[in-house]
Amino acid sequence: MSHQGIFGGKRIVLGVTGGIAAYKAATVCSRLVQAGALVDVVMTEAAQKFISQLTFQALTHRPIYTDMFHIPGGENIPHIVLADSADLLLIAPATANTIGKVANGLADNLLSAIALATPAPKLMAPAMETDMWRHPATQRNVATLKGWGIEFIGPAAGRLASGAMGEGRLVEPDEIVAAAQMILARQGDLAGRTVVVTAGGTREAIDPVRFVSNHSSGKMGYAVAEAARDRGAQVTLITLANLPAPFGMAVVRVDSAQEMLDAVLTATDQATALIMAAAVADFRPLTVAEQKIKKRGDTEGLVLELVRNPDILAEVAARKATGTGPEITVGFAAETHDLLANAQEKLKRKRLDLIVANDVTATDAGFAVDTNRVTLLGTDGSIEETPLMTKREVAETILDRVARFLMDS
Ligand code: PMT
Repeated sequence: MSHQGIFGGKRIVLGVTGGIAAYKAATVCSRLVQAGALVDVVMTEAAQKFISQLTFQALTHRPIYTDMFHIPGGENIPHIVLADSADLLLIAPATANTIGKVANGLADNLLSAIALATPAPKLMAPAMETDMWRHPATQRNVATLKGWGIEFIGPAAGRLASGAMGEGRLVEPDEIVAAAQMILARQGDLAGRTVVVTAGGTREAIDPVRFVSNHSSGKMGYAVAEAARDRGAQVTLITLANLPAPFGMAVVRVDSAQEMLDAVLTATDQATALIMAAAVADFRPLTVAEQKIKKRGDTEGLVLELVRNPDILAEVAARKATGTGPEITVGFAAETHDLLANAQEKLKRKRLDLIVANDVTATDAGFAVDTNRVTLLGTDGSIEETPLMTKREVAETILDRVARFLMDS
């Protein structure tokens, strides 16, 4: 599995057709290239009236294809080469004309020929005036294409090129990229699996303005959630981290350990895997003051009484013993000393299938940084140490183990 993310090394044929929204295809193209995809842009004649080949050439550093009979690199016939090598054919914007051609099996330009020839999954993002979109011919063509498994994103409603308001706008480039990502992810080794991931620390209230927490930024958990999504899993991310919600997953915001426990139990009822990267507070203040605690007179200090929080993994294990809950449970162990012995003990006590031991004293691993170095301990006695890697790469290593476990079980 590539550690570059879902687009790494994937070949995407980006078909650009002739509508005013063609300029937005440049943003789609740029996002895909930045994400590591090899993007071959195919432009129709009409598209070139709206945006130049040069724009896409500068973004992709690759030849742009416009003509069925022009062979830029002297290689094979372009529509066959592109059709055979594509992992995805994305047409954005897709005009009523191109939709009509593909739905009727016409192959009178390079793009429609590729659409007919390629076995790759196909995604179309229509853009046109409302009346054209609503026309029975367009609707019939779209229904035909959907019937063949071609997917559509949009159109959105809003202001159109004519100035009118209505349905027919190209959806935003980020949404198009997200939809492409979802389609590619279906080929991943966690396709059809449900994965619940926790991220960040928890906050245990002292009074309305203060809380007890820890240094967890949520980066490790988010990396696991995103990697699982990109391998095809349906992901629920339970978090209180102050990071933007990743697209393509359910995000449940929580605060305290108790809230995280409730969210985890609900989400794992039907889940395949639970991966607890969150740094859950073991203790919380016995009472939460209703009003802000004030300094009083000359008192020097404040004694805060803490009580134990529920152990989320222990509760999940208890449920598993009754036959409900995830098939595989992965915990993390954040340690400052005796890394392996402590992790080993947690693996057993929390009845986990795998534990990821994390030395949080290192400056380049553990809390808040973008890299990590971990040791994976399995119930079979296996010990796998990773070198220093990005958190995304650590996430992929963990998910390799999860995928293998699911394959064997
Ligand atoms: O978020 P980042 O800044 O990227 O940092 C990542 C990380 C260091 C937080 C992460 O890699 C990590 O090590 N997470 C686990 C932190 C932790 O709480 O470890 P622990 O040894 O205290 O707990 C062991 C396991 O039990 C953990 O999976 C934890 O989620 C779980 N736990 C802990 C307490 C509790 N009450 N209930 C639990 O389920």
